[in-house]
Amino acid sequence: MLKILKYPNDFLRKKTREVNDFKDSKLTRLVSGMMKVMEAEKGIGLAAPQVSSDLRICVAKVDNVPHILINPKIKSKSRKKEIFEEGCLSFPGKFFPVERPVKVKIKARDLSGKKIKIKAEGLLARVLQHEIDHLDGILVIDRAVKYEEKK
Ligand code: CO
Repeated sequence: MLKILKYPNDFLRKKTREVNDFKDSKLTRLVSGMMKVMEAEKGIGLAAPQVSSDLRICVAKVDNVPHILINPKIKSKSRKKEIFEEGCLSFPGKFFPVERPVKVKIKARDLSGKKIKIKAEGLLARVLQHEIDHLDGILVIDRAVKYEEKK
C-alpha cells in the first residue's frame, strides 16, 4: 500500500510535472495504487504528491464515481463561491473552512492519454479544486479562511 505523506513534509510543496508517457506501465500502477489507498483511508480525493510522486495526477471518488485526472487544468470557474469545511489525508482528523467557486470546468487526460473535459459542481468541484491545488504545491491551510467565532 502506498504511504500518504503528512504535513509538514516538504514534498507536499513540490510542483509536479506533466505526464508525457502514457504507455508507461508505472502510470497505471501508480493510479491504481492511489485509488486503493484513497479508498482504504476513506478519502474522496488524492493527489500524486501525497504519495511521493511528482507527476501531475489526481484521483477522486465522489458519489461512488471514480475520477482519474492526468495533467488537469482548470479552464473556468463560476463567479459564485461557497465556504465549506475541507479535510485532507495529509492533515488527518482536521478540517478547514475554504471558500471556492461552486462550479468549474476542467481539461485533463485519461489513463490512455485521451483528452477529457469535466464540468463539475458541488462536492466534486470542491474536491477536484483541492486536488489540483496539491499539484501546484498549494495546501488546504493556504486557502483556509479565518472566521470569527460567534460569542
Ligand atoms: Co488534500
